[in-house]
Amino acid sequence: MCGIVAYVGDKDAFPILIKGLYRLEYRGYDSAGIALLNESLKIYKTRGKVADLENFMQDKDHKGKIGIAHTRWATHGEPNDINAHPHYSRTKKLAIIHNGIIENYGPLKEELISRGYRFTSDTDTEVLIHLIEDIRQNEGVDLPEAVRIALNQVIGAYAIVVISDDHPDMLVAARKGSPLVVGIGDNEYYLASDATPIVEHTKDVVYLDDEEIVTVKKGEKMLLKTIRNRVKTPYIQKLEFNLSALEKGGFEHFMLKEIYEQPRSIRDSMRGRLNARDGIVSLGGILDYEPKLLNTHRIIIIACGTSWHAALVGEYLLEELARIPVEVEYASEFRYRNPVIDETDIVIAVSQSGETADTLAAIELAREKGATILGICNVVGSSIARATHAGVYTHAGPEIGVASTKAFTAQVTILTLMALRLAIKKGTIETSRFQQIIDELEEIPRKVEETLNLDKEISSIAKIFTYARNFLYLGRGYNFPVALEGALKLKEISYIHAEGYPAAEMKHGPIALIDREMPVVVIATNRGPYDKVLTNIQEVKARKGKIIAIVTKGDKKVRELADYSIEIPETEELLVPLLATIPLQLIAYHIAVMRDCNVDQPRNLAKSVTVE
Ligand code: G6P
Repeated sequence: MCGIVAYVGDKDAFPILIKGLYRLEYRGYDSAGIALLNESLKIYKTRGKVADLENFMQDKDHKGKIGIAHTRWATHGEPNDINAHPHYSRTKKLAIIHNGIIENYGPLKEELISRGYRFTSDTDTEVLIHLIEDIRQNEGVDLPEAVRIALNQVIGAYAIVVISDDHPDMLVAARKGSPLVVGIGDNEYYLASDATPIVEHTKDVVYLDDEEIVTVKKGEKMLLKTIRNRVKTPYIQKLEFNLSALEKGGFEHFMLKEIYEQPRSIRDSMRGRLNARDGIVSLGGILDYEPKLLNTHRIIIIACGTSWHAALVGEYLLEELARIPVEVEYASEFRYRNPVIDETDIVIAVSQSGETADTLAAIELAREKGATILGICNVVGSSIARATHAGVYTHAGPEIGVASTKAFTAQVTILTLMALRLAIKKGTIETSRFQQIIDELEEIPRKVEETLNLDKEISSIAKIFTYARNFLYLGRGYNFPVALEGALKLKEISYIHAEGYPAAEMKHGPIALIDREMPVVVIATNRGPYDKVLTNIQEVKARKGKIIAIVTKGDKKVRELADYSIEIPETEELLVPLLATIPLQLIAYHIAVMRDCNVDQPRNLAKSVTVE
């Protein structure tokens, strides 16, 4: 959940680190800090955002060609100046930044206290740096070795970088369960939680694997080994995205930019995979596992948050088209309930970040039980992408806004392609119907663009409901997950309580809440259970609820009943989620902006949840 960035080379470290922290701020933003090594090792840290740290450091000494920096999302200890990272060792000769949780920090801390160590913070991280220094002094080993020995005593998750004033040109870093990327420049190295702070400096990167330690020294080759002391050859990869993907490009917020990117990102998700003219859908990444997919008796999809909603759309798609039974599970529940699963099962993990701790743990569990694990991830080289047997990247590009938008539509696009591919291979769909759907799928990016043109209208509807205290979102069939996603978007960024419900379930509870104060967003597009949804709308109207309806262009019946209607282009029922989600993203966005909320960095949330 935290962001870490470090630099060693010939350039001034401070501007690189502070810019890197801004890029990583989406990962956590309750406190931030920097350690710079010039003549001595100095730490500057403060509660608040990266901008607060930058202000705080205005009149401080910025010198140093080596440094480490951190933006935090608190787990151990409240967010304050003391708990912020980096943390010094006892002698102040070492400092550390850490992302993750040291689970056995309690016994380690007691042991260190019994040997005279005193702790200034409430963090688990401080335990680790004392331990490293203790080993270094008592066992007379060098810094990389002391880090290695210490990590062998640690239970939990970590990505760490250690700096020492004995080594003005060296950093030692390691990972387990939290991501870490090394960027290789000219006579210099960058280390970071993801590639976003690195891409403007170099495209050559090495993604560390779990339990790997890297020692980087200016002007020398990096040294990579496992914590069991096995030397490894670094695998250097090329970053495939550009700097422009990380900038707001004239938009007020990343979230708005990402909403507007969807015609492009959906196209990118389909590129090289959908060829409507020749009637071909193919997913190269999982081709080897296709025979297994075609014969499987069921698929289990695991995910969290927005990705879980995409997975639900996937369930409807795979069952309808490929006739494969699908179960969709919250990764956090799946991992703790001893699920019935074996080598005949196929598990698909869906994750934007590829780092979500619960999803990773669920994968491990399924793998232990012998299942085949496939991934649908956005972040290339992420932990989940590497923990799966095979997978498909969504290619939506970096998503910075904490509330997921373009990643959702990209995930749904991939699941649609997967369902279509399996259906045509299994023969569960007529060729003519298959062609009809893929022709329409190719039209979707253009129709998303058309939907985005409704932004002004949507913004004026949003204005009316800025002061609502509750919202209900209703949908049936393919539009049920859309309703869930719409409600999640609103609560995440505007802090208005919102619930998504299958429209027909409303009468089993939420109907009790409906009065003239209650806005109800109903996704009532013209295919599927349209008449049933119409009845649900009447039920809301009878109780004086305010209806905001998402309807198909040209709709008459719902428009007559609804207080406000948003008309989206006509499409296949099973492709509606790709269009109907757009106005819901925009409603949430505009309401949040009008309520003066921090859209890109909502309170208490983080983009990548690497803790349980
Ligand atoms: C966090 C993010 C959500 C995201 C969820 C799952 O809660 O704020 O936007 O949907 O994690 O993340 P993943 O990266 O696995 O899709």
